[in-house]
Amino acid sequence: MVRPAGDLRGCVVAGDWFHAPRAGALERMAGGLVEIGPDGVIAAVHRAGTPGHQAAGALAQQAGRLVRLPGLLLPGLVDLHVHAPQYPQLGKGLDQSLEVWLQRYTFPLEARYADRLFARRVYRRLVGDLLAQGTTTALYFASRHADATCELADACLEAGQRALVGRVVMDNPEQCPDFYRDESVEAGLEATRAVAAHIRARAGADGMVRPVITPRFLPSCTDGMLRALGRMAEESGCHVQTHCCESDWARDYGQARFGRSDVAVLDGFGLLTRRTVLAHANFMTGPDMERVALRGGAVAHCALSNAWFANAVFPLRAALAKGVRVGLGTDIAGGPSASLLAAMRMTVAASRMLQDGVDPARPAAERGRPGAAVDMLTAFHLATAGGGAALDLPVGSFARGQHFDVLRIDPDAPLGTVRLWGGESDEDLLGAVLYTASRANIADVWTGGVLRTQAVPAAA
Ligand code: GUN
Ligand code: FE
Repeated sequence: MVRPAGDLRGCVVAGDWFHAPRAGALERMAGGLVEIGPDGVIAAVHRAGTPGHQAAGALAQQAGRLVRLPGLLLPGLVDLHVHAPQYPQLGKGLDQSLEVWLQRYTFPLEARYADRLFARRVYRRLVGDLLAQGTTTALYFASRHADATCELADACLEAGQRALVGRVVMDNPEQCPDFYRDESVEAGLEATRAVAAHIRARAGADGMVRPVITPRFLPSCTDGMLRALGRMAEESGCHVQTHCCESDWARDYGQARFGRSDVAVLDGFGLLTRRTVLAHANFMTGPDMERVALRGGAVAHCALSNAWFANAVFPLRAALAKGVRVGLGTDIAGGPSASLLAAMRMTVAASRMLQDGVDPARPAAERGRPGAAVDMLTAFHLATAGGGAALDLPVGSFARGQHFDVLRIDPDAPLGTVRLWGGESDEDLLGAVLYTASRANIADVWTGGVLRTQAVPAAA
């Protein structure tokens, strides 16, 4: 097969498109034409059989701008929760509880990013690996080092991954070790400002990479720091990310220290806004969900990580029903896979376990929570358009005004794991791909209309 063009800006692409702009609604556009502007943004979508489809195709052909792509074309995947410095820890230490894992494994590893060259090596490899697995947009926690966080932003810019990058803030001496802690509120704020300035200088104000205000979680921050970051969020208009009521321990810690839920505390500090993404949020009560929905905040649902650290399954259906915006996160390295396909699969499986229950010794009628299950199409929506909506970024579906961030799936890739036999319905075809595809099936990845999987930098 001829390799498709690397730079599709200004082209019209013909292909077999699958997207889920709304939860529960798959649209397949076989033979559809997508026009890409010079800025890498979709200028028009022509569905087969609609007025203008034929003329648009003929015109593009004449101009030598028609590109036909084989396979299935899906929106790029949005990972709403990645700890970049934890990539070397993927699959390690998972038998511990969250609080032990953080102190024994995570903080010592993250402290190593004082070494900027180590950071560069890990981050280039991570960004390349994520792009190759279809993650075109990522919301990153970095470490608490400003220099290393700038390296992460630079790695994303160089590789062409859309990213929001946050220097993690943690200054509470009671919960953060001496070797890995911001020295003071002012030092933490200063380092956070320095990273934002670097990102804005490199990427521009609304560039491919943006800064994020990132208090790690309530235990790791003093009241003074939380208050100051809330003010910074208001003044800067930046996104905010933090962990929220992830496990029994984390939830109980917030209750004991503040006498209120994590959601209420974050709101009180001005850290729950339309631009906030709460990682996990497993133990939200009904009123918590209503408060998040009212503020327009979003949740990064990390089903894989939750299986190890959360002590419970996130009530996804309940949150969606309350109007909370939700996307999916891998939570590298709380989750032992960097693949959003794995996150989608676990999202479905965990929701089924919540619905049916898990203890066979209990009667079926008392075992689970009825109405909790979601299907793969919902997981696909959350990993694409849902993630884009959670960030208020125009990504995740094929429509005018959306960035051309696209995966080309080759279901016949010999080293891949998809086996199709023909005759599937649209939904079964997509389901089979999402459940069985692996990295070898992700043939090409574009962001902003530019092929990125061939530009992945080698690890230094
Ligand atoms: N809570 C605070 N920090 C972390 C982290 O790095 N990973 C997870 N899963 N939870 C956290
Ligand atoms: Fe996390």
